[in-house]
Amino acid sequence: MAIQINANCKWVGKIDWELRKFHGEEYSTHKGSSYNAYLIRDEKTVLIDTVWMPFDKEFVENLKNEIPLEKIDYIVINHGEVDHSGAMPELMRHIPNTPIYCTANGEKSLRGQYHKDWNFHVVKTGERLSLGSKELVFIEAPMLHWPDTMMTFLTGDNILFSNDAFGQHLASECLYSDLVDQGELLQEAMKYYANILTPYNPAVTKKINELKALNLPIEMICPSHGVIWRNEPLQIVDQYLKWAENYAEDQITVAYDTMWDGTRQMAEVIVKGIVNAAPGTTVKLYNLARMDKTDLMTEMFRSKAVLIGSSTVNNGMLRDVAAVLEEMRGMKFKNKKAAAFGCYGWSGEAVKLISTRLGEAGFEVVNEGLREKWAPDGETTDRCFEFGQQFAVNIN
Ligand code: FEO
Repeated sequence: MAIQINANCKWVGKIDWELRKFHGEEYSTHKGSSYNAYLIRDEKTVLIDTVWMPFDKEFVENLKNEIPLEKIDYIVINHGEVDHSGAMPELMRHIPNTPIYCTANGEKSLRGQYHKDWNFHVVKTGERLSLGSKELVFIEAPMLHWPDTMMTFLTGDNILFSNDAFGQHLASECLYSDLVDQGELLQEAMKYYANILTPYNPAVTKKINELKALNLPIEMICPSHGVIWRNEPLQIVDQYLKWAENYAEDQITVAYDTMWDGTRQMAEVIVKGIVNAAPGTTVKLYNLARMDKTDLMTEMFRSKAVLIGSSTVNNGMLRDVAAVLEEMRGMKFKNKKAAAFGCYGWSGEAVKLISTRLGEAGFEVVNEGLREKWAPDGETTDRCFEFGQQFAVNIN
C-alpha cells in the first residue's frame, strides 16, 4: 500500500517484517527492515528506487494500482545493490524503454547484475532533471556505501532521497522518525552506521560537508531503509558527522570464547579489575561465540578500547574469535586501544596471534596480553584483576 508523503510524493516501497538477516547471513535485522521507493508526480512522473527482488511482483502490482506504468517518465536508481534495484527486471519487462538515471558506476552495477541494455542516463553531481514545476538535483555519494551511490534532492518540496545513508533496518507502520520509539531509532541508526558505513568514515565526512556547503533547504530526508526523518531532519546528518569522526564512548568491551571455561573465568575477573580502576566507564562482557556479531560490532564501534580473549586450540585461536577479528579488520576502526588474553594447556599461541591481528586491524595494542596456563587459581585471579586494572589505566 502506497503512503502519501505530501501532495506530490508517495512512498511505494515494501516493509519486510520477517527479515532477520541481511547481506546473506551477515547482518542481523532483529526488527526487520523496509525497502523504500518513492513516486513523485509533477508534470513528469518519476520513480525513485525499487525494492528487493523477492518482492518484485508485489511491488510492480502495487505500483500499477498507483499509476499506469507507461506514465512513469523517469526512473532514478540511487544505488544498484539488489535490495533497491532487485525489482528492476520485473518493472522493466513492462516499460523497457523508460530512462534510468544513475551514476556511471550505477550503470556498471546494473549492467553487471542484470545484463540488460536498458536506457541508461548517467548523471553527475549538480546535474538537474526538470519535472515541470520542480527539479531533481543529483548528488554523487561514492562509498556511502558503494562506489555507485548517489542522492537525489527534490526542489520545491525540499526532500533529500538519501538512499542507504541515514537509513535503519527498522520495520515500522509509522513512516516517520518522530513517531517511533526514539531509543530504538537511535540504536538501529547507530547499528546501521557502525556496520555499514564505519569503513568509509572519511568519505562520509567529506560528503556531508559538501552536502552542507550546498545549503539545500532540506525539509525531509527519505532514506531507502527504515523511517523518514521528518522533524529536524538534519539531526541525523549531524549525528553522522559525529559517528564519522572515529566515534567512541567511555566504554570498554571484553569479548572472548572459551573451551573449558578458563578464558571465561579470566574475562570475568578482568572485568572486575576494570570496574575497580575505572568505575565510571561502561564495561560490557560477551562470549562472542554466543553473541550476535552485528550487535558486537556495534558495541565495538561505541568502545574506546576492547579486550579479546581466546583459548588456544591447534596452535591458534578459536574460530569464532578469528571470524570476529576478521570483521574488526574490515571495519577499519581508528583510535581504539586493545589487548588480548587467554587460557591454555599446552603451547598458548592464541594471545600473541590475537595481538597481531588487533594491530593489523588498526587497534593500538597497549600490552603483550595475558596468558594463563591450565585452570585459573588464586594467583591467576590476582593477575587477571591486575591486568584489568592496568588496562583501564593504560588506555586513558
Ligand atoms: Fe540498502 Fe547498499 O543497499
